[in-house]
Amino acid sequence: MNRLQGKVALITGGGGGIGAAAARKFAAEGAIVILAEIDVENAGGVIAEIIAAGGAAECIQCDVSKSADVQNVMAQIERRYGRLDVLYNNASVYLPGRDGKITEISEDDWEMIIGINLRSVYLFCRYGIPLMQQSGGGSIINTASSAGVIGIPGCDAYTATKGATVQLTKSLAVEYGPYGIRTNCIAPAAIMTPMMRKSNPSDSSFDEERFLKLRTPLRRYGTSEEIAKIALFLASDESSYLNGSIISADGGITINGDLSKV
Ligand SMILES: NC(=O)c1ccc[n+]([C@@H]2O[C@H](COP(=O)([O-])OP(=O)(O)OC[C@H]3O[C@@H](n4cnc5c(N)ncnc54)[C@H](O)[C@@H]3O)[C@@H](O)[C@H]2O)c1
Repeated sequence: MNRLQGKVALITGGGGGIGAAAARKFAAEGAIVILAEIDVENAGGVIAEIIAAGGAAECIQCDVSKSADVQNVMAQIERRYGRLDVLYNNASVYLPGRDGKITEISEDDWEMIIGINLRSVYLFCRYGIPLMQQSGGGSIINTASSAGVIGIPGCDAYTATKGATVQLTKSLAVEYGPYGIRTNCIAPAAIMTPMMRKSNPSDSSFDEERFLKLRTPLRRYGTSEEIAKIALFLASDESSYLNGSIISADGGITINGDLSKV
């Protein structure tokens, strides 16, 4: 309890999945939580839950790829709270059927995926870091994926955004560390969320049993709560000497090179 007492924490895309789990956890630890979400209905449900549990939270509607929306979020946070302590860049899209091999992705889809997954990180850092500097420092948590560190076929726009997020985490850590701003990155895989369910549609050739047996050393999916606990650690002062880290949160999927022993 109270690991984030008095901190103002912004989570992008906290209306569902991992972001919603982090919102609940951050609020339970005393943070004022702001969700920057496009889906205000889902976000409203999360906010209502947090408030009912005695926490503090609000949603500001935002398309994370739009500069005006992001600037509006930051202006409102500055006006209402005067500070920003935690910036959790969580929102992304994974679009099977539209994303794919680079020779097959339309230019519009490429731009859209880059906009939501990567431009958003630029925009929130571009307009959020000055407020964090004024606040005396803070914690930026970026979100990559196993797709940001190993080759995964069939989603080249997504992998490009996640690889870039890994590298951006490292340069931000070096650039803004001297201001007391720590930047770290969580690289999840196989977390059972709406995104995960969408990525393995029932009509695809995805063989779940084989996936769990061959790919996942822990033989199960991860949960949003398991990722939210890592985000909480990164947001809190308990991770005070962590800066520029890429944390694989995938049950060992990414380092599993041997698929012969099952
Ligand atoms: N679930 C996994 O297995 C997995 C694996 C690797 C990486 N990740 C990453 O973890 C993060 C969270 O994933 P998740 O599984 O919880 O996803 P999710 O799809 O369940 O939730 C994403 C949230 O982002 C919001 N969002 C989407 N587009 C937006 C926009 N333009 N503006 C504002 N909000 C928007 C959605 O409304 C949704 O609430 C993402 O960055 C994802 O790439 C997840």
